[in-house]
Amino acid sequence: MSAPIELASPLGQALEALPKVELHCHVEGSMRPHTVADLAAKNGLALPVDDPTELYAYDSLDGFLRVFWLVQSTLGDRGDWARLAYESALDGAAHGLAYRESFFTPARHLAAGQDLAEIVAGLDEGFAAAEAEAGVRVQLICDFDRDFGHAVAEDTAAQLVALRRAGATGIDRVLGVGYDSTEIGQEPDWYVEAFRTAGAGGFRRTAHQGENSGPDAITACVDLLGAERIDHGLSILDDPDVVKRFVDERIALTVCPNSNIRIANAYADLGEHCYPAMRAAGLVATLNTDDPALTDLDLGYEYRSVAGAFDWSWDLMVDVALDGVEACWLEQDDKAALRDRVETARNSLRPSPAPS
Ligand code: ADE
Ligand code: ZN
Repeated sequence: MSAPIELASPLGQALEALPKVELHCHVEGSMRPHTVADLAAKNGLALPVDDPTELYAYDSLDGFLRVFWLVQSTLGDRGDWARLAYESALDGAAHGLAYRESFFTPARHLAAGQDLAEIVAGLDEGFAAAEAEAGVRVQLICDFDRDFGHAVAEDTAAQLVALRRAGATGIDRVLGVGYDSTEIGQEPDWYVEAFRTAGAGGFRRTAHQGENSGPDAITACVDLLGAERIDHGLSILDDPDVVKRFVDERIALTVCPNSNIRIANAYADLGEHCYPAMRAAGLVATLNTDDPALTDLDLGYEYRSVAGAFDWSWDLMVDVALDGVEACWLEQDDKAALRDRVETARNSLRPSPAPS
């Protein structure tokens, strides 16, 4: 079994403090267990257990999604979204998060009668408070939930475009759209219209694919949906031509190695993960947590565990962080500033070798 670099070690401390970018994290999947219980009680939702962490063991992506959906259901109003966003950003900052593009997936809440403008405004309020307090920055990606189908996705895309035209509170924080949830029984081409509407309205595009589907589906996301990044993309290595294209065009993957073990059950141990093969192939394979609170992860641990499993050096891990900067959707000036910050940290945080 591979072991993470210990937090107390010089390399562990440096990886924790390294300013990190995260491009694949679901805000609902970062809800503190205590908050899950609190919001469930507040909103009259009966949980099957007192301690929600008792539910956090998964046999498959679809098994995980049943728990994720329950956690999502605890969010009842704008204030709940604000609390979630605030705590999520603070918890990220505690492990060196500098910048995150965070998913939110509102289909379930919209179906229950919540208003997209209120959800966006609540998230904006919470992130703004955390930004002021902790210096972290968070922007948003609105994910379509494939479980609700393409017609709902099309309607949500149209609503986002309308909110942007109206200059709704917080909508500037929503940079893009994507889709997530189950891949089984789904085809990317069903979502062409939703992604086209969002793209025409100025939203960037990404897509969860290749967690439970093959490389053809990954290619379809790029060609049919206009995806600029792929979330997970695990199956890409099955097709060398798709790998070559992603390398040549520098289309990024947002990889979540520990999630692939704890959620998708795709590997028994991190040491078996294809992440090193992805990076050796020259892919822009960024490092992310996915659903940190539902999998007992944080971004510092993600970096420490990858460094430990593959015996990667400080400089290699800084290069991983820099790929996150390259793949993010910040404006060029902000991106350059973030790149400088990471490069400065490469030297200022460089762990001294253990005394011999
Ligand atoms: N929603 C939250 N986490 C997810 C994942 N890993 N895959 C698909 N949908 C998700
Ligand atoms: Zn995800």
